[in-house]
Amino acid sequence: MITFLSLSKNDFTGGIPPLLGNLTSLEILILTYCQLGGKIPDSLKQLKKLRKIGLGENGLVGAIPSFFFNLSMLEVLSFPENQLQGSLPSNLCLSQPRLKWIGLHTNNFTGFLPPSISNCSKLEILELNFNDLNGKIAMDFGRLQHLRDLSLGGNKFGSKDGGDMNFFHSLSNCSDLIYLELSYNQLGGVLQSSIGNFSSKLSSLGLDSNYLSGTIPSSIRNLLGLTAISLGSNGFTGMIPESIGELQTLQILFLHNNHFSGAIPRSIGNLSLLVEVTLAGNSLEGTIPSTIGSWKQVIGLDLQGNKLSGSVPKELFQLSSLSISLILSQNNLSGVLPQEIGNLKLLGILDFSMNRFTGELPSSLSSCASLENLNLSSNLFYGSLPGSFSSLKGLEYVDLSHNNFSGHVPTYLQQIPLKHLDLSYNNLEDKVPVKGVFANTSAISVIGNTRLCGGIPHLHLPKCTSTTRDSKRRIQKHSIRVIVAISLSSTIAGLALLSFILFYCCIKKKRDKPSEARILAESFEKISYARLFKATGGFSAENLIGTGSFSSVYKGVFDEKGFIVAIKVLNLLRRGGFKSFMAESEALRNIRHRNLVKVITACSSIDFQGC
Ligand SMILES: *[C@@H]1O[C@H](CO)[C@@H](O)[C@H](O)[C@H]1NC(C)=O
Ligand SMILES: *[C@@H]1O[C@H](CO)[C@@H](O)[C@H](O)[C@H]1NC(C)=O
Ligand SMILES: *[C@@H]1O[C@H](CO)[C@@H](O)[C@H](O)[C@H]1NC(C)=O
Ligand SMILES: *[C@@H]1O[C@H](CO)[C@@H](O)[C@H](O)[C@H]1NC(C)=O
Ligand SMILES: *[C@@H]1O[C@H](CO)[C@@H](O)[C@H](O)[C@H]1NC(C)=O
Ligand SMILES: *[C@@H]1O[C@H](CO)[C@@H](O)[C@H](O)[C@H]1NC(C)=O
Ligand SMILES: *[C@@H]1O[C@H](CO)[C@@H](O)[C@H](O)[C@H]1NC(C)=O
Ligand SMILES: *[C@@H]1O[C@H](CO)[C@@H](O)[C@H](O)[C@H]1NC(C)=O
Ligand SMILES: *[C@@H]1O[C@H](CO)[C@@H](O)[C@H](O)[C@H]1NC(C)=O
Repeated sequence: MITFLSLSKNDFTGGIPPLLGNLTSLEILILTYCQLGGKIPDSLKQLKKLRKIGLGENGLVGAIPSFFFNLSMLEVLSFPENQLQGSLPSNLCLSQPRLKWIGLHTNNFTGFLPPSISNCSKLEILELNFNDLNGKIAMDFGRLQHLRDLSLGGNKFGSKDGGDMNFFHSLSNCSDLIYLELSYNQLGGVLQSSIGNFSSKLSSLGLDSNYLSGTIPSSIRNLLGLTAISLGSNGFTGMIPESIGELQTLQILFLHNNHFSGAIPRSIGNLSLLVEVTLAGNSLEGTIPSTIGSWKQVIGLDLQGNKLSGSVPKELFQLSSLSISLILSQNNLSGVLPQEIGNLKLLGILDFSMNRFTGELPSSLSSCASLENLNLSSNLFYGSLPGSFSSLKGLEYVDLSHNNFSGHVPTYLQQIPLKHLDLSYNNLEDKVPVKGVFANTSAISVIGNTRLCGGIPHLHLPKCTSTTRDSKRRIQKHSIRVIVAISLSSTIAGLALLSFILFYCCIKKKRDKPSEARILAESFEKISYARLFKATGGFSAENLIGTGSFSSVYKGVFDEKGFIVAIKVLNLLRRGGFKSFMAESEALRNIRHRNLVKVITACSSIDFQGC
């Protein structure tokens, strides 16, 4: 008489026991995360009353037995993240009028998208991403009035030609559409202006890594619910439309590796909620608009490989939320680095290489305490290397090559655990130190500085003749400054550098009610440290779920809404901490894993009020 059976999250071995087929009253069967292997047994065909079946996140192989496509009561068919294969039946949906959720992502399915799916008039979620499906998307989505999530990314849909997007306009009839993911396919053609008629609820538009061309239609301004636009690595041309500034809720803007030209529209400054912006690898020209000073939450900005010119607006250096990267390399930018650069206290990567920046490095650069990667190569910088750099204890990669720096190589560089230091093609003189990074020939380059001497024998530099009293005194002065700087910066860092990732928790109690969690996840919430503190009982030991080498994970409950979340606290002071944060964020950005790790938000903060 059992109607509901859930054995989710266990460590079973072997396959799904055939005797489950004898539980003929079963309506709901959930065996997600159970380490189950083997094929789906034929005996399950006796479960004629099944409404919901979830077998996701196991190691199941073989095809989906065809009787599943005959179960007329079925509402949820969810088998993601297995190694299932075969093609989807051409009668999918025909005898299943109640189907709401088809979740088959991250498997090995091949073949076409059955057009019969357009008969699933109750369908809300269609997740077929990360399979090997191919062919034209020859489907009319217009009848899927309730469709919220269409995820077809990571397949081989399309033929790289113009007709591939013919299905697209039919999505304008899906007035509940929130999530549209078609990235990593072979779709050719243009982004039709009918996109302006898409649901105003559309939150995420993913068309990355296809073969799309033409311009971004200005009708995109109608999509006032958009929080993420990802059009990277296509063949889009024309200007970035001024109207993009009307998408006030936008948080993610990825337009990289296309052929966009013209100026970056000033209206982009109206998008005050932007978190990550990548316009790299286009042909954008003109200056960086000063309006970006109103971005208050941006953590990463990448403008490399364009034709931007002029000096960088001071406003850019006020963006103290920048924490992942600021990449302006390979443009034609000029001017000096202002003292305001010291505002970028959380920044990990600063890459201004291959431009025409000039002047001396501002001493305030030493305030950028989180810097790991500093690349100023191939510019026109001059002057001595500032002594104040010695406080940048997290530096790993430093490239100052192809400039006109002069004076001595500072000895404090021996104390920073650098992995790579390129000082080549400058005008440096005198003694090259021998310890730390200088002891590692493959990590250091000093060639093209004709007046250097000393160093380890491998560098083949001339011997230094004598040390003058003058330079001895200078060295002493240095070491005093170093100590002060270290103790100061480590105090600040100890108080400050905490980053958070929130995951929607592993345990989802109501599988069939995903909407709140999804909607929460879809818009990056601003969550303050104070709220996290409260949610975890002050990061109490009771709520500590686990500790890794760079991070700890806590359980947290937001009582306002009763959501259970996992809160990951990264220790940026531990070596590699920041890198692992970036690697994880990068990975998580591309993964959509229904029950496991749904990133709600990431925040990097130096005070109690948080991001
Ligand atoms: C399952 O049902 C079949 C008949 O449908 C019966 O022969 C078998 O013994 C049952 N298995 C168990 C374990 O009860
Ligand atoms: C599906 O149902 C049809 C008729 O309702 C039947 O002919 C067919 O054999 C069934 N297929 C399976 C695999 O049960
Ligand atoms: C299913 O949809 C197709 C078009 O995709 C249509 O020709 C067919 O009549 C529909 N069948 C049912 C049962 O609605
Ligand atoms: C669009 O949706 C309406 C209902 O809102 C429906 O009547 C119509 O048939 C749909 N259009 C298409 C092309 O499916
Ligand atoms: C958008 O919809 C309106 C009416 O609903 C229609 O007149 C217009 O042609 C559509 N625009 C596009 C680009 O499809
Ligand atoms: C958007 O930006 C433009 C140019 O910066 C400005 O003129 C306009 O008033 C802004 N619109 C809104 C709604 O803020
Ligand atoms: C770069 O900018 C300078 C002016 O600052 C200009 O003379 C030069 O032509 C530009 N170079 C390119 C490749 O655009
Ligand atoms: C610095 O940038 C240049 C050009 O953009 C690149 O070739 C070089 O590898 C970078 N250096 C480091 C250490 O990443
Ligand atoms: C480099 O700097 C020196 C002074 O330190 C100056 O004499 C020389 O002209 C500069 N070279 C270039 C290419 O700017």
